[in-house]
Amino acid sequence: MSELSVVILAAGQGTRMRSRLPKVLHAVGGKPMLQHVIDAARKLSARDVYVVYGHGGEEVRSALSDNSVEWVEQPEQLGTGHAVNQAVPAIPEHHTVMVLYGDVPLITAATLRRLAAAASEGLGLLTTHLDDPSGYGRIVRDDSGAVLAIVEEKDATEQQRAIREVNTGMLAVSAARLQHWLNSLDNDNAQGEYYLTDIIARAVDDGVAVQTVSPGFEAEVMGVNNRVQLAQLERDYQRRRCEELMMSGVTLRDPERFDLRGELLTGKDVEIDVNVVIEGKVTLGDGVSVGPNCYLRDVTIAAGSRINSHSVLEQADIGAECRIGPFARIRPETRLADRVHIGNFVEIKKSQVADGSKINHLSYVGDSRVGSGVNVGAGVITCNYDGANKHLTVIGDDAFIGSDTQLVAPVEVGAGATIGAGSTITHDTPPGELTLSRARQKTVHGWSRPVKKREQN
Ligand code: UD1
Ligand code: CA
Repeated sequence: MSELSVVILAAGQGTRMRSRLPKVLHAVGGKPMLQHVIDAARKLSARDVYVVYGHGGEEVRSALSDNSVEWVEQPEQLGTGHAVNQAVPAIPEHHTVMVLYGDVPLITAATLRRLAAAASEGLGLLTTHLDDPSGYGRIVRDDSGAVLAIVEEKDATEQQRAIREVNTGMLAVSAARLQHWLNSLDNDNAQGEYYLTDIIARAVDDGVAVQTVSPGFEAEVMGVNNRVQLAQLERDYQRRRCEELMMSGVTLRDPERFDLRGELLTGKDVEIDVNVVIEGKVTLGDGVSVGPNCYLRDVTIAAGSRINSHSVLEQADIGAECRIGPFARIRPETRLADRVHIGNFVEIKKSQVADGSKINHLSYVGDSRVGSGVNVGAGVITCNYDGANKHLTVIGDDAFIGSDTQLVAPVEVGAGATIGAGSTITHDTPPGELTLSRARQKTVHGWSRPVKKREQN
């Protein structure tokens, strides 16, 4: 097969989204629609990918600047034929050109491979049958079933409107032929546009066979014009991702109540309860369980760890056999070793916690290095911020930090040290010793409570 160049049309305004954001930047599964299409094109090992942009062009380019694609501006939207013709002159004649759409995000590489194969024998056209074909171009065939033309709905006769086979817009054909046909397009039609679809009749006139291909599932060819359709595609996308996960051995307590907006890698026997949202790149090792209502973004969790309900974990590395939550918050740059316990209403930020340490209740630990076997009591706070800069707290192995202690950083608690409850620790404490800093308890004998005065009237 000849080399492939892909042209993605993304110049439309997307007015019906009623959004400041260009339509193709709206996300499905946490990824901009246009990025889905670029990724599908990349899976085909397309030589070049051209994106035809218009409205909101700069925003689209900068949002997707990680991609090595050719950006082609279509300053005025004069129709799909005109849009494709902005890119085709730059494509070598011997290439096959495939036309895709930035607002049709779920197209799969598998379907596109079949489309490319169809093009090797002429023109490959992706069509589908719809119960309600309204709004789409209709595929007109002759008695023998050969494709004759595409007729746009606005230009169709009543008889043609009854046709249920529709044009998805996606096609593939040799660059030389496409250029030749594009040069001959006119805008003499109901919408006054240069229709890409008119090249089908040109191909038939030139004796080039039109081979149709249909998608693997309907949502592959569904476009997004408004937020209702966006939500429908999102559900479809999520359902498919859930099926893949379940087939690979993950238990999803309810696949209708799970959202994956990124990439999830899983070991064996992972269990995920309801209303869990996963973003970015998340790895869950063998036997990891995630309780209900958790949010995980860019985290790695090693085998056997359990994340209890209502916990939020971002950009963190969690070791094996840890217990997190319920109601825990693990913030970026946190690394927990194995068998660490983080309990309810505990916030950990930019800290390392070594093997087997426990921070179980109502604590803030930030910018810290916590050794192994440490017990951090309820309500312990690292005072890491002096109003201008952040400072480090170091807690040695096997230290015991009494409840309601403030560790004013920079400060170091020695290994095996004990800190008495309620202390404010401002200086390093020696290893193996008890340190406490609080007023001595006293009893005032004979003290009596104030009595409310009688109102004088
Ligand atoms: C087009 C097809 C129709 C097909 C339908 C599938 C034509 C003439 N008609 O109709 O047969 O059934 O798609 O959805 O091709 N675009 C540009 N620049 C332009 C015009 C359009 O980039 O000048 C982009 C739009 O952003 C959009 C896509 O091309 O993503 C389709 O354009 P649209 O005007 O929506 O075409 P339809 O009327 O839906
Ligand atoms: Ca459309």
